[in-house]
Amino acid sequence: MKQLVTTGINGLDSLLNGGIPKGNGIIVEGAPGTGKTTMGIQFLYHGALNGENGLYLSFQEFPDQIYSDMSNFGFNIKELEKQKLLKIVLLSPEVLLEEMFIPSGLFEELVEEYGCKRIVIDSLSIFKHLEEDVHKLRKLIYSFKNILGKYRLTSLIISERYTNNQELPFEHFIFDGLIQLNYREKFDEYKERTLEILKMRGTKIEEGEHTYRLTDEGVYILPSYRTLHIQRSISQHISTGNKVIDENLDGGLQQGLIYLIETDSTSMYKYIVSSFVSQLMKKSQNFTYLLPSMITIPEIKALLEQFGINLEKYLFEHKSVFIEQFERTPPTFLNGYVHSVSHLNNTDYRSFVLNDLGKLVRENSKTDWFTIYNINSVIDKRGKSFVLDLYPELVALQKELNMSAFVVANIDKLDNDVIALLQHKANAIIKTWRNNKYQYLQVMKSQSGIFSQPYIVESVDAPPFFRLI
Ligand SMILES: Nc1ncnc2c1ncn2[C@@H]1O[C@H](COP(=O)(O)OP(=O)(O)OP(=O)(O)O)[C@@H](O)[C@H]1O
Ligand SMILES: [Mg+2]
Repeated sequence: MKQLVTTGINGLDSLLNGGIPKGNGIIVEGAPGTGKTTMGIQFLYHGALNGENGLYLSFQEFPDQIYSDMSNFGFNIKELEKQKLLKIVLLSPEVLLEEMFIPSGLFEELVEEYGCKRIVIDSLSIFKHLEEDVHKLRKLIYSFKNILGKYRLTSLIISERYTNNQELPFEHFIFDGLIQLNYREKFDEYKERTLEILKMRGTKIEEGEHTYRLTDEGVYILPSYRTLHIQRSISQHISTGNKVIDENLDGGLQQGLIYLIETDSTSMYKYIVSSFVSQLMKKSQNFTYLLPSMITIPEIKALLEQFGINLEKYLFEHKSVFIEQFERTPPTFLNGYVHSVSHLNNTDYRSFVLNDLGKLVRENSKTDWFTIYNINSVIDKRGKSFVLDLYPELVALQKELNMSAFVVANIDKLDNDVIALLQHKANAIIKTWRNNKYQYLQVMKSQSGIFSQPYIVESVDAPPFFRLI
């Protein structure tokens, strides 16, 4: 792997997972006034102060103009020039071209005299006027890039962009990286400056648009918070069975939290939920499970078996209660573990949940408990207002008993007031849905405020039978 060169531009290095691979040629593209020159100077300034001298080749602006513009950001370029750490040169693209391709020409002289490791060229757009024939121009730019590489220069090539919808310029393919600076209308309300790294050979990048500001320190990027990796002590957390979900849940499942799982009606979510549940069962937790209408006990048994849990054996060794809301006869192996509530009116059901189950958990509180229920089935059975009324009390009880709860909700079928309550009470929200092409999963809320990217759920053959890409 190539060594990474830090840019010193706030936020950019973390979006590049360290910096620009040494010797790469990167295009910085943006409309007028978006901060391209400022970024270029920041990059050279940081290098100059850290043992990597730089050269700024301008085709248009006089050095005096750059000194004065950049003094607004507190850059004292003249001082660094005096120390021979940095050099601003104004020249024509024709001259550069001539001098670049000859050995011991002006270009080589400058690079050697200053011991340059970094270079900024402002701008490629002017350079492109040199040649009208597109094929020749492409070849020319290709050789130009190779010369920069020959001198092992880490380069920023500034490029001007006036419209958003022109054809893809060929230089996007030639150079090693592409950083775009945008200035766009957001929600018709305000304009926002965003930076997006579209390409960077040799290092992992954080995708997406990130807001930046022009401040007294120059270009200042604020990586969107979903890319911030908050390190925490994760020893007390239990894995969900999926590394990516663990990372987005600050390390995994935490005892006593309410996890809202927003699903659609696809079968994929059963694997996601089963993965969570089986991980807690492997930690020998007790549980209560409110049986939903769509899934039968034999199905649950078969699913858990795929995750290495023998339900019959488990029930024998742990305290667990299945709650049956419908008039279904449980299989014989579950005799004694199913509590039917189908005959209870709402008042008695409420008392059962808050008092009887509460008592059971309290009496067996040496072991951690979790509970799992599908909120839609309770609403279908007992009505929305009953659930709106019971839910806050139930959550309070779960907190008091330090029970983890997995609340499965098909939000397409729920009213906004119910969704708002569920989301408000949840410590973490995991949403999974599908369009006509893919199944997606996104962590929408977590203890540390992580908001993940929408991952694509791919099914695989081994537990947990899904992978997030
Ligand atoms: N201290 C400061 N705080 C915030 N903005 C500033 C400050 N000093 C200058 N600016 C603004 O920063 C902007 C960025 O200038 P810069 O020259 O880097 O843009 P550019 O993309 O190179 O533009 P051009 O395409 O015209 O060359 C300027 O419009 C300037 O008004
Ligand atoms: Mg400029």
